[in-house]
Formats: sequence, C-alpha cells, structure tokens
Amino acid sequence: MLVNLNDILPKARKGGYAVGAFNTSNLEITQAILEAAEELRSPVIVATSEKAIRYAGIANISQMITGMARRTKIPVVLHLDHGKSYELCRECIRHGYTSVMIDASNLPFKENVKLTRRVVRFAQKKRVSVEAEIGRLAGIEDDLNVKDSQAIYTDSDEARRFAEDTGCDALAVAIGTSHGAYKFKGRPKLRIDILKEIAGLVKTPLVLHGASGVKSRWINHVNRYGGTMEQARGVPDALIHQAVENGITKVNTDTDLRIGFTAGVREYLTNHPSDFDPRKIIAQARKRITDVVLDRIEVFGSRNRA
Ligand code: G3H
Ligand code: 13P
Ligand code: ZN
Repeated sequence: MLVNLNDILPKARKGGYAVGAFNTSNLEITQAILEAAEELRSPVIVATSEKAIRYAGIANISQMITGMARRTKIPVVLHLDHGKSYELCRECIRHGYTSVMIDASNLPFKENVKLTRRVVRFAQKKRVSVEAEIGRLAGIEDDLNVKDSQAIYTDSDEARRFAEDTGCDALAVAIGTSHGAYKFKGRPKLRIDILKEIAGLVKTPLVLHGASGVKSRWINHVNRYGGTMEQARGVPDALIHQAVENGITKVNTDTDLRIGFTAGVREYLTNHPSDFDPRKIIAQARKRITDVVLDRIEVFGSRNRA
C-alpha cells in the first residue's frame, strides 16, 4: 500500500519508534527492502537519490517501486532523498512519488525557508509529504562535500522557526552523523542534548540522516572475500536507540545496504568462480541486503507496526 510520511511518522513519534528510509537504485535492492519489511510487518520508506534516479531513469524506477508498493499490504512511501531543486521535486511528484525531500540546507536560512515553502505549497495540493533539512552533516551529500570542520549542528530555535514557517512534514537535523562508511574518527558520539532541545520545541517528525550502523560483522564479510574496507565505523545501535527515544522518527540508511550488496557479490563470485549468471550473483547480494534491513528494522523498533 502506497502512503506518504504523514500516514506513518506521527504514529511513530507517538509509539516511540522510528521508520527506516532505505535507499535503492534497482530491482533487487527494492525487493530486499520490501521483503524484510513484509517479514517483520513494518512500514517502510523506499528512497531514491538524485543520482539513483539518473542511474535508473525516473520512469523506470518510479513505476517499478509504485507497482511493487501497491501490491504489498505493508505501508510503503516512495520518497525522493536529498532533492536539490523545486523542479526535481515536481518531476518526482509527477511520476508518482508520495514524498519528496527538498534539501536546501546549504543555502542561507531565509532561502532554505523560501524554497522549502515553495515545494510544500506544490506538494500539499498533490497530497505528497515534504521533508526538509536544517543544519549540515559532515561528509558527502550528493555532489556537495562538507568538511568535518564545517559541520554545523542544527540550532533548536532555528529549527522551531523553520518548521513553523515552512509547514514541512518532516525535518532532518544535524546532530553529529555523516553520510558514508567512515563516520567517526574516534568514539562514536551524537549530540543527544541538541536533539532533546529540538524535540522539545518542534512537533514536526525529526529525521536522522547518515545513520548506517556499519557493523563490523558486515565489514568482515566484505573483507573475508577480498574487500579492503578498513576502519569503517557507523552509528552503534545504542545511539540509534537514544536518538529514537529522544524524538527521531525517520532513520536514513544507504551505506549498510551497499555493504550488504558488496558482501553478497564478493562471496558469490569467490565461492563460484566459474559461474557467470547475473541472477545468481545478484540474488546473493539481495539476500545479504535483506539480512541488513531485517537488522535495521529491529533496531528502529518498527517491527509489527504495519
Ligand atoms: O544521502 C546520500 C545517499 O547515500 C545517496 O547517495 O547520491 O550516491 O545515491 P548517492
Ligand atoms: P548512510 O550513509 O549512513 O547510510 O546515510 C544515508 C542517508 O542519510 C541517505 O539520505
Ligand atoms: Zn542523507
């Protein structure tokens, strides 16, 4: 069943759990996400970035996911991740996305508000939910490279004004995570104090980006079959729990699925060096991704919430 963020996130906030947003760019990753969500009877957000849309083609990816979503009983949101322009958000809505993110977090506050409001006005008419972002994540956001030193945590008062002025349906905040597999140099740390402050002032559901767990057993799996992913470090489950307890209701995960994919492909090819059937290779990747998504859904607490 195809739904938007407003159908699932307010319930998550009340229930004290979060819903996972998982990035996809092809058939098998999407199948893995939906299979795991169905098995655990969890609502789920299937997200595509601008690059994923460019890779797959907007008509192909949107028709595939909306079709799969309509054929399942669990609530599924088709969401644009980190949309950088009004035009892309509009294009996604035209193609059946039920939710879009306008990420103008690199613009000054006033311009971020203005662009977000413009997207909200258009999306509301189409019953599409809108996520926006305020603050900056360290690391790489699409083509934008934000150095660690420039990471800016979200200011709680700005977040309150932003939510009121834009009417967005979900708000991504910066509390110390970053995108990718190499998130922390030392001990993983999140600014739960800042999150608490924001959650006290803002009723809009809050979103945590860059939330992959990058578990060592997944990294070891990749490295056992020839990978060289040294010193990758993600957000530990305990910190995800703390974030969810303190108001995060949407948790974005891409890197963990990429690691699962890579582990599956490496494992299959190492164990079957003479095989050359793409379906067999990619089926093993799909299996590994399913295991990763099952793990994340349990951590977010959305099992049996469909
Ligand atoms: O937030 C970033 C996501 O991991 C998407 O990455 O732009 O390479 O598809 P991508
Ligand atoms: P990770 O790189 O931690 O998986 O974050 C993904 C994300 O935030 C997508 O928007
Ligand atoms: Zn993100």
